[in-house]
Amino acid sequence: MPNQLLLAASRSPRTRTAVSRFRLTRRLVDRFVAGEGEQQVVPVADRLVRAGLTVTVDHLGEDTRTAQQARATRDAYTALLAALHGAGLAAAAEVSVKLSALGAAVPGDGSRYADEYAHDVCAAAAAAGTTVTFDMEDHTTVDTTLSLVGRLRLQFPWVGVAVQTYLRRTAADCKDLAYPGSRVRLVKGAYAEPASVLVRNAREVDAAYRACLETLLRAGAYPMVATHDPALIAHASALTGELSVPSDGYEFQMLYGVRSQEQLRLAQAGNRMRVYLPYGDDWYGYFMRRLAERPANLLLLTRSLLPG
Ligand code: FDA
Repeated sequence: MPNQLLLAASRSPRTRTAVSRFRLTRRLVDRFVAGEGEQQVVPVADRLVRAGLTVTVDHLGEDTRTAQQARATRDAYTALLAALHGAGLAAAAEVSVKLSALGAAVPGDGSRYADEYAHDVCAAAAAAGTTVTFDMEDHTTVDTTLSLVGRLRLQFPWVGVAVQTYLRRTAADCKDLAYPGSRVRLVKGAYAEPASVLVRNAREVDAAYRACLETLLRAGAYPMVATHDPALIAHASALTGELSVPSDGYEFQMLYGVRSQEQLRLAQAGNRMRVYLPYGDDWYGYFMRRLAERPANLLLLTRSLLPG
């Protein structure tokens, strides 16, 4: 389970200011984040695609508080989609979107902004010839995200969504999402959550992951196996073989900067392998969740803060 202290820090404005002030932190951030603008991220996407990988590009940002910020995020995604299309990458590069970035939590009209702008991003993706997957945020947002995805799928059946196997509710959500062609990204979960909504321990998170994957595969859905966990990757390979799922019936996904050699190995072995590629200047929350996932990353951060 992720480190709770770091996850709490990921939501603290004070820690955000302190961490962002250290110039050397940037080097570590660069390991996980592909620059601040489209000019940086598109060439990185191109390099990954040339290496035999596919990508899902995330314009970093969450906790949007104003209508203006929400609109700016929508505009950033439409510009990004046009840039990916222009670079000839649309067949291999989709986008990942957080509803909070599109304004879902803006007081008052938040859900209206999120609905409208999510629709705009999907329409821009359709025009560019690619797809959109919605990230899943903390547990209070799951109902809203799933119901919006349900509505969007009426017009854009290829819309994908992430589900988190650390949540107790996810077994039931997976059953609802298990139908032919349904694109579902399976993740363990990365947010600080109250114990009341979580399964009991890491072993149960993994068991739920395996069960959910099987439910999706048996229904002919399109699972996106988003994990770096070698045991779960091996399990997914074995299960798809057992169920005779063709190699275009599922894909693996990993984060940019994590297990890069394994990403190449899986692609070279004939698997679809997609890299989650974030860019943008609002990197703090994303970066802190990556630190929380692995104690060794915190060591790297401490070293980057030391002089010399
Ligand atoms: P686990 O945490 O057990 O890690 C297995 C091994 O992978 C570790 O031992 C380590 O070697 C390596 N590893 C994992 N994380 C690392 C890191 N940050 N740095 C270095 N090495 C690391 N979550 C969420 O709540 N909502 C979402 O929408 C998404 N979306 C998403 C997309 C994609 C493509 C991925 C891969 C992940 C997400 N996540 C997410 C994050 C996810 O919930 C989870 O926190 C991380 O994937 C870490 O869990 P693993 O499944 O990799 O296993």
